[in-house]
Amino acid sequence: MAARIPRIAPSEITPPEAYFNRRAFLTGALAAGAGAALGRAAAAIVPAQSGAPLTYTIDAAESVEALVHAPGQNEKPNTWEQITHYNNYYEFGTGKSDPAEYAGQLQTRPWNVIVDGEAEVTGNFPLEEFLNPYALEERIYRFRCVEAWSMVIPWVGFPLATLLKRFKPTSRAKYVAFQTLYRPSQMPGQRLDILQWPYREGLRIDEAMNPLAFMVVGLYGRVLPNQSGAPLRLIVPWKYGFKGIKAIVRITFTENQPATTWSQAAPDEYGFYANVNPNVPHPRWSQATERRIGNPFFHERQPTLMFNGYANEVASLYKGMDLHRYF
Ligand code: MTE
Repeated sequence: MAARIPRIAPSEITPPEAYFNRRAFLTGALAAGAGAALGRAAAAIVPAQSGAPLTYTIDAAESVEALVHAPGQNEKPNTWEQITHYNNYYEFGTGKSDPAEYAGQLQTRPWNVIVDGEAEVTGNFPLEEFLNPYALEERIYRFRCVEAWSMVIPWVGFPLATLLKRFKPTSRAKYVAFQTLYRPSQMPGQRLDILQWPYREGLRIDEAMNPLAFMVVGLYGRVLPNQSGAPLRLIVPWKYGFKGIKAIVRITFTENQPATTWSQAAPDEYGFYANVNPNVPHPRWSQATERRIGNPFFHERQPTLMFNGYANEVASLYKGMDLHRYF
């Protein structure tokens, strides 16, 4: 019998309109009928091939589907082709085109996620438990890689906070750690010594609870393709892209700051916080500007914004911290 995660009362979920301009968004099978027929424990997302239309049934009583634009985000999104053919995913190789070429072999169903550590509710949950009963939202977020390129991406998912609250973290939960699947048979990069596997990331609990932190299951209204981190990945839009861990299989609430892959691999170059910060150069290059993928003027660069343009929403998290030290 699959473990059950307690549902969260709608009143405990921060309404997105408190943070975003929202406009109504209805696509696919909004399933008043289907939801009722399947019952309240119905899976929220019907497993589908990567890139297929994202069809899902939701619990109409509690769900709102919303197209949510991140603040100040009026830029034109990158194309599906650009977003899915220029990736970092070392489990499939270090080249930008390797993930598109090799990630198809990863089987993303069945999929389980372990939740453990400092929380009242822990266990090993089938993915469907994770995806129910969220209302999926589309959020168009800027994405900034530490290598100084950037994109604008229409992700589909739900706030990380909504997920985490269901596990009732204890007062000792000061951080949340995430882990990627370890499956060298389908992830050829894991047979090589490029990084310490499995890939790990982490956030401070208040960062994780910030409404901008987002669990992603789709892209452009379609099922997330494997190279983009299917079936479940994290996006933290005010931080460099490497915080956005893909193919998540474990979430651990911890009292101490968890080890993270890139800060272990090169502690002088990649910090735990990894906030986008044009004022703190990477040891090998400036972070002051970025190159938007797809810009017809390939060499044209634009200024990088503090916290990737999300300072109004997140700067208060770092009040009093020396961001040169905690980079
Ligand atoms: N997650 C895993 N498991 N393995 C990785 O190599 N690369 C990170 C991050 N998440 C990575 C990962 C880095 S360095 C970046 S920039 C982003 O994923 C890239 O996300 P994208 O390919 O969707 O643009």
